Amino acid sequence: CGIVGYIGHREAYPIVIKGLKRLEYRGYDSAGVMLYNTESGIKLCKTKGKVSDLEVKAKENLDATGSIGIGHTRWATHGVPNDVNSHPHLSNSGELVIIHNGIIENYAPLKEELKKRGYTFKSDTDTEVLVNLIEEVQKNEGLKLGKAVQIALNQVVGAYAIAVFDKKNPNEIVAARLGSPLAIGVGEGEYFIASDASPFIEYTSNAIYLEDGEMANIRLHKPLKVRKIKDDSLVDPYIQQLQMNLEQIEKGGYDHFMLKEIYEQPSVIKDTYRGRLHANEGIVQMAGVEDNLEKFLNAKRILIVACGTSWHAGLVAEYIFEEFTRIPVEVEYASEFRYRNPIINKDDVVIAISQSGETADTMAAIKLAKENGAFVFGVCNVVGSSISRESHAGAYTHAGPEIGVASTKAFTTQITVLTMIALRLGKAKGTLSNTDFHTYLQELEIIPEKVAEALETNDRAKEIAAAFKDAPNCLYLGRGYNFPVALEGALKLKEISYIHAEGYPAAEMKHGPIALIDEHMPVIVIAPKQGHYDKIVSNIQEIKSRSGKIIAVVTKGDTQVRELADYVIEIPETSDALSPLITTIPLQLLSYYIAVMRGCNVDQPRNLAKSVTVE
Ligand code: G6P
Repeated sequence: CGIVGYIGHREAYPIVIKGLKRLEYRGYDSAGVMLYNTESGIKLCKTKGKVSDLEVKAKENLDATGSIGIGHTRWATHGVPNDVNSHPHLSNSGELVIIHNGIIENYAPLKEELKKRGYTFKSDTDTEVLVNLIEEVQKNEGLKLGKAVQIALNQVVGAYAIAVFDKKNPNEIVAARLGSPLAIGVGEGEYFIASDASPFIEYTSNAIYLEDGEMANIRLHKPLKVRKIKDDSLVDPYIQQLQMNLEQIEKGGYDHFMLKEIYEQPSVIKDTYRGRLHANEGIVQMAGVEDNLEKFLNAKRILIVACGTSWHAGLVAEYIFEEFTRIPVEVEYASEFRYRNPIINKDDVVIAISQSGETADTMAAIKLAKENGAFVFGVCNVVGSSISRESHAGAYTHAGPEIGVASTKAFTTQITVLTMIALRLGKAKGTLSNTDFHTYLQELEIIPEKVAEALETNDRAKEIAAAFKDAPNCLYLGRGYNFPVALEGALKLKEISYIHAEGYPAAEMKHGPIALIDEHMPVIVIAPKQGHYDKIVSNIQEIKSRSGKIIAVVTKGDTQVRELADYVIEIPETSDALSPLITTIPLQLLSYYIAVMRGCNVDQPRNLAKSVTVE
């Protein structure tokens, strides 16, 4: 979910609405706002659907005036997406209003207790329980809002970023966070609250990121007060200067964020290695790695934890690390790792990969790794994100804000960072020959040009998309470094087009998926010249013998596969280890065009969220 708040001298409504639109990547199944002014009091408008649906409803039903407001865009956890379950939620007295991102895990016993005390509940949400708990504390002890919020939060188990408003003291919003992000923008005589800084970058570049377990009293014309929820001790808030600019979070002439982000890959891969990679001098270095080189070199094992697309980047990294450094690597879904009593040793290096740096399962996995004495290295895109702060050290990808829910440029920049680490370690360990080391550096440096060349498959991808847009299923096959690319290709397609797709190691096809192949089944085979070419040609023969439709991603000039395949997509040649950076590009374009042609909402596919801050 995404939360936004404003308190100041401007009209709050447009700020909150625009802010919610920027946060829709965090969830978009329902939305709501609360506005307040002295004449008309609390005004609430909420609806199932997107922020644009909220705007329509507000036009008819909401007096949108007031210079204090909060808003929410939801990704449902407790309770289906409907008007009633949408936030903001009111307390029983109608005086307290809350917006919440996260989950209150012990809401059931709290709800029972509150019911016994006469409280009633309109929604199925955990959030409505929290706001009434705050009310109960406030009523019983005659407390101000901040104190009541603090006491209530100490009774709560779970994760939250909240903003609470109290009609009795309308010049204040109380915000708090544990496990879900919360940024406060500090302007002249105004404050902004949001799940990330994007809703307020055009108003101020001064931001305070609340730490886990902190809360803030945000009062009109008064300095911000930040304190620890646990013991009420005051904290000196650190004001950060934002680097983000407006252009980065707008579509810049593209139809969708996803397409823009696909096309940004040549430049953001360059941004990611800039200052770190100097091929001519034979240097590849990242501060986070240099400062902890011994830890990496002494690692008995590297454990990679991540979710979704980041997990796929981890799989690519497994192949690269083992090849370059000969350190054993295990790649784990963070959600499985955290709950299966994993073996973690002090001499393990745990690499957490996360675009958002906020994924709840990944965060929990690294906390567990730290508790067990492992060294944790974060590869995140969002600067200052929770995972980047929780890690002992890390290296950022410099992909810029990724807004399309389906991850594209985050994936390739993650692979870029991980490749650089593997190169650095391979060199230091001597597991990579000098010649190979230099060849890879040179090659990585020119990868952006090859990615740009791979983007020229755009029209071809469109043509193939038109032919297969109505397919009910799709199979993606790859071997070696390109097996994770097959998984990622399938994930992209299912996420945005809702076509069922599976990625498989090409050789494994004969142990199951081959049963699905008939003349209706498109099979996308990643078959570049480098790698296990002959083997994959045999796999293509196997598909052909069963009348499957073959779409092959091949190296420019390939003739052998061309004879067998129904469609080929040509990409520039590169080494096997770096090929995922190239082969993945046409697959992104293919899913994009299929989704567009099927009339799907590419940037905001149903049921998904970009940043999953609940487990
Ligand atoms: C969500 C997003 C995916 C993303 C995954 C992990 O499911 O929709 O695109 O890969 O979370 O997110 P992270 O921010 O940790 O990389």
